[in-house]
Amino acid sequence: MYLTNHSLTDYRNVASLRFLPDAGVNVICGDNGHGKTNLLESVFLLTGARSFRSGKDLSLVRRGCSFSIIDSGFFSEGREQSLRMTISEKGRSASLNKGTEKKAAALAGSFCCVVFSPEHLELIKGSPDARRRFLDTALCQVSPGYLAALKTYTRLLNQRNSLLKDSYSIGAAMELLEVYDEQFAAAAAAVTQARRKFTTELLPKAQESYRLISNGREQLYFRYLSTLFGEGPAEPEQALTALRDARGADQKSGFSTLGPHRDDLAVELDGESARQFGSQGQQRSAVLSLKLAESELMYDRLGERPVLLLDDVLSELDPNRQDYLIEKVIGSQAIITCCEPELVVRRADARVFRMENGALSAL
Ligand SMILES: Nc1ncnc2c1ncn2[C@@H]1O[C@H](COP(=O)(O)OP(=O)(O)OP(=O)(O)O)[C@@H](O)[C@H]1O
Ligand SMILES: [Mg+2]
Repeated sequence: MYLTNHSLTDYRNVASLRFLPDAGVNVICGDNGHGKTNLLESVFLLTGARSFRSGKDLSLVRRGCSFSIIDSGFFSEGREQSLRMTISEKGRSASLNKGTEKKAAALAGSFCCVVFSPEHLELIKGSPDARRRFLDTALCQVSPGYLAALKTYTRLLNQRNSLLKDSYSIGAAMELLEVYDEQFAAAAAAVTQARRKFTTELLPKAQESYRLISNGREQLYFRYLSTLFGEGPAEPEQALTALRDARGADQKSGFSTLGPHRDDLAVELDGESARQFGSQGQQRSAVLSLKLAESELMYDRLGERPVLLLDDVLSELDPNRQDYLIEKVIGSQAIITCCEPELVVRRADARVFRMENGALSAL
């Protein structure tokens, strides 16, 4: 799939902009702080997910304005489609192909992107939350029904946590937990199963990328660490037993200590934790491999290549890894921000744009 046109009104530092990208490689160059990442972020929002940069929805709206509009066209499933998103204090809402306006999250699966940014080093260095978010963002795009499963799980988790918080003052708290936990275990099994399957399919693709990036110096390995389920299929009965055993501890802490909201992805290089022992360069290669594997897996599952958004990643890589990455993006639509367009232009046919004070011009 590819983006055909993308207009912004009152989005971050952009008053008004129209972007007509090529279906292949696009480079957005410009000095620091002029709005390159803002443009990339606005394309990512078309997936329906929250911004990959932290912050509230309202911080996306241009200062002094009350709402932003993103109006885009993209080609997917053999036809041109349209998407219009409004961002205001009420959040993000969107209409696909001029249909009824819904919450942006309902877009999941319509327009698919993979974004690479230096902040993604968090995938290795950061807390488990970053790794769970990586799995969830990808799964929401490629797996119909995953978003609904995740929402059900989150609702039941919140319900369970409020009960645990007040459990000492609610007489029948433990009996109520017994009732809650049946549903909770089933929802946890659905989320765990989907994440585990995705991780298993991702592994060989990421290993292959890592091997090529690192010239086979060390081997990448990762596996999904579940707090509720052992190896093998995630069966709700198994979770129920673990939940019962944890009730005492849960009651003491006042929240659920087990479940997909506490799970992690253990990433290793030659059997050692990449987070603890990986060098900066090894960690970067691991992130790059995970992201490239994510885009390949999306292609396998959707039958279409997702749009690749590369935010300032090239300057951090050595020339060999720059070559490898550019070679990999050819064949997909890519939107690449960087301060030096030559890094891309000498390696691929690319349409180049300049971003200056929130205004975009084709070069
Ligand atoms: N809601 C907002 N309203 C107005 N301006 C905003 C808003 N949010 C961010 N900005 C401005 O956007 C600019 C940053 O844009 P962006 O992060 O896209 O820059 P960039 O071109 O990617 O820079 P770099 O090369 O340093 O990564 C900053 O000047 C910031 O003040
Ligand atoms: Mg930037």
